[in-house]
Amino acid sequence: MHPTVRIMLFAAALSATACYRPDGATATISGKEMFRACTSCHMDHGQGNPAIQAPAIAGLPDWYVESQITKFRTGVRGAHPDDYEGLRMRPMSRQMMNADEVKAVSAYVASLPPVKSEHLVEGDAAAGAASYATCVACHGVRGEGNATTKGPPLAHQPDWYMLAQLKKFKAGVRGANPNDTTGATMRAMSSILVDEQMMKNVVAYVATLNP
Ligand code: HEC
Ligand code: HEC
Repeated sequence: MHPTVRIMLFAAALSATACYRPDGATATISGKEMFRACTSCHMDHGQGNPAIQAPAIAGLPDWYVESQITKFRTGVRGAHPDDYEGLRMRPMSRQMMNADEVKAVSAYVASLPPVKSEHLVEGDAAAGAASYATCVACHGVRGEGNATTKGPPLAHQPDWYMLAQLKKFKAGVRGANPNDTTGATMRAMSSILVDEQMMKNVVAYVATLNP
C-alpha cells in the first residue's frame, strides 16, 4: 500500500477506531510518520494532554514503549471495562500492522526529548520521599527507570497520570491480567501506598526529580 494511503488510513482510524487492518505486511512507513497518528492525543512533542488523560510519552525508553503498545494490542493492558483511558489507547495500538511497526514507532517516541510536565497534584513531597525509598530498586534514585527490573522512568511522567496509574494498579484495573508479568510486579508494590494521600505524596516527590 502507498505510504500516503497508509497515513490517511491511520488518520481516519482516529475517528473510526474499529477500522480493520490486516496483519503480516512489512513496515513501509517510518516511526516518525506513524507518530502523526499519536499527536492528536499525545501532542506534537509527545508531551501529553491532561484534558484527555493522554500521558507524556516523549523520551520513554524504546523497550518500555514497545512493551506497553504490545500489551495494549493484545489486551493485556487497557481491556478492563473500568479502564476508560486504556480503552481509548487500545484501538490506537492496533493501527500498527506488525511488530516491526511497533518497534519503529517506539524508537521514534524514545528519540524525542522528554518534556517536563506541569504539576497538577497537591501532595507532601517530603512525606512522599520516605515512600519512594521502596520504589528506587525499580524506578531509580532519580526516577530514571531500570531496564533490568523493567521499571519505567518516572521523572518526566505527569503527576496526574502517575496518580491515576497507581489507583489502577491498586484496583486491579491495570496489572491484573494473568499475562501481565511486569504489571503484576507493580501491582504488588502499589499496595504499599495504603491510601490516596500516600499516592499523592509519592507523586509529589517524584515531580521534584529530574534525571
Ligand atoms: C485517542 C487518543 C490517543 C491516541 C491517538 C494515542 N494514544 Fe497513546 N494513550 C492514550 C491514553 C488516554 C493513554 C493512557 C492510558 C492509561 O491511562 O492507562 C495512552 C497511553 C499510551 C502509552 C503508555 C504510556 C505509559 O507511560 O505507560 C504509550 C506508550 C502510548 N500511549 C503510545 C501511543 C502511540 C505510539 C500512539 C500513536 C501510534 C498513541 N499512543 C496514540 C491515548 C491515545
Ligand atoms: C519491584 C519493582 C518495582 C517497584 C519496587 C516499584 N515499581 Fe512501579 N513499576 C514497575 C514496573 C515493572 C512497572 C511497569 C508495569 C508494566 O509493564 O505495565 C511499573 C510502573 C509504574 C508506574 C506507571 C508508569 C507509567 O508510565 O505508566 C508508576 C506510576 C509506578 N510504577 C510507580 C511506582 C511507585 C510510586 C513505587 C514505590 C511505591 C513503585 N512504582 C515501585 C516496577 C516496580
